[in-house]
Amino acid sequence: MKAPWYVDAVFYEVPVYAFFDTNGDGVGDFAGLTERLDYLEWLGVTCIWLLPFYESPLRDGGYDISDFRSVLPRYGTVDDVRTFLDESHRRGLRVIADVIVNHTSDQHPWFQEARLPGSPLRSRYVWSDTPDRFPDARVIFTDTHDSNWTWDPVAGAYYWHRFFDHQPDLNFDDPAVQDEIENIIRFWLTLGFDGLRLDAVPYLYERDNTNGENLPETHTYLKRLRAMVDTEFDDRMLLAEANQWPDDVVEYFGEGDEFHMAYHFPLMPRLFMALAQGDAGSVISILEDTPDIPDGCRWGIFLRNHDELTLEMVTGEERQYLWDRYAPEPSMRKNVGIRRRLAPLLDGDRRRIELLHALLLSLPGSPFLYYGDEIGMGDEHLLEDRDGVRTPMQWDSSPTAGFSTAVPQDLYLPVVSSPGYSPAAVNVAAQRDNPGSLLLWTRKMLDLRAGMSALGAGAFRLVPASDSAVFAFVRSDADATVLVVANFSDAPVTSDLDVDLAPTATLATAPGTSLEGTTITLDAHGWAWFRVEHPFTVIAARHGD
Ligand code: BGC
Repeated sequence: MKAPWYVDAVFYEVPVYAFFDTNGDGVGDFAGLTERLDYLEWLGVTCIWLLPFYESPLRDGGYDISDFRSVLPRYGTVDDVRTFLDESHRRGLRVIADVIVNHTSDQHPWFQEARLPGSPLRSRYVWSDTPDRFPDARVIFTDTHDSNWTWDPVAGAYYWHRFFDHQPDLNFDDPAVQDEIENIIRFWLTLGFDGLRLDAVPYLYERDNTNGENLPETHTYLKRLRAMVDTEFDDRMLLAEANQWPDDVVEYFGEGDEFHMAYHFPLMPRLFMALAQGDAGSVISILEDTPDIPDGCRWGIFLRNHDELTLEMVTGEERQYLWDRYAPEPSMRKNVGIRRRLAPLLDGDRRRIELLHALLLSLPGSPFLYYGDEIGMGDEHLLEDRDGVRTPMQWDSSPTAGFSTAVPQDLYLPVVSSPGYSPAAVNVAAQRDNPGSLLLWTRKMLDLRAGMSALGAGAFRLVPASDSAVFAFVRSDADATVLVVANFSDAPVTSDLDVDLAPTATLATAPGTSLEGTTITLDAHGWAWFRVEHPFTVIAARHGD
């Protein structure tokens, strides 16, 4: 049976506002996205993930929605979305969108109405006479809040919010909320989206004496959404944003009856950890601790996204280590994380950027690229909140980076100006013409991956290596077996691999790699993908296989 489309998809995350501005108002729009589909098709990604584009006061990048069924006028209209979907589909590209189910903006008419004394909508949100209920629920935005309750003088009560205080949480005990959210999902799927990322799903319900995360009631409701999608639509995908430990996040797959996909949040910081320590141990142990997932389900894996690089899924000691290594300046830290982009995090070092991408594109899971990382875009960590990683896409070397015809002061956010990362230094046009560029390297890797189905749906096995800096695994399906090796250390390494196989071809590699029998030699931060002969035996199989 053919694997579902998301199993070998390569996702590209992009906010509408950041990609391309066609009407010169300084903000990206749907017409701009449509115009730049050529680029995405050329690059070789297969599914676009759009950040929220709905009516919103934009106090949380659009995750604060004031009308779920609308498009923010500065981005375009519902018809523009339809055109964008049609054009994407015509090129064989899929598109998913973010839907925020946990909360609304405080400007949403539901909340404005619910605040009024005696309102019939009161029960759409969660209220309390005291700020003491649910004391075990952690605060997520630790930089700006110390409580999940905020007093509303109009309502004469406290309202509950897991994120910003301008984002009241919806009350899923209210059947009207359950129906409304289901209908919103129906609306966007009917318009033609191939899937939806449901934001912040662990927090839908609140219960006394719990931490309010991953509650059984939440799973019951999410299964109801999945059943609706399966009954009413073909070939669609639901993706869970659940920043949780592996044992908790696998619950969001249910028994194949909840989400099709979920992000592997704990893997991501461990890739950075392994690189900082020059040791593969942390990556290997999180993969060993990751339970198997039901057939037809799939991890979403990523290096960076529009948020801070979250350090919630590591220990306190590991977090401090990662902060010290990757966010030496306090302004680089945000909440429990780091607000920097991939290239500056890795000191602009091509070898490390390529190493992490070579793993992102071969580990088990569908990779999510973050717009601009394919050209090594920089960040502006002194901007507010997480704005520093959401700056305009850099198309050319002009002052507005070819993103807009507006004057630079009128852009929704300034173009990156930090040394080495300004449009003059980093842009699509220059890299397209340069055979040695990161952009062309990324495109080549995507092309290779597309021709190697084992890297999509293939089975995964860790391969033990004698040197702890070396991370090795195989991916295999009926067509091929691929051996992936990587050296996390900044020194060259020679290591034995505990695997019985014979390579037939080097698919891709960093310079300085050689494989003699089962002895691999890799340069500092070297890596390689080898095609190897069938059948093969992994001497020590992954725990649980
Ligand atoms: C989104 C964030 C947002 C938060 C609250 C998250 O899961 O990724 O960007 O700030 O939800 O809405």
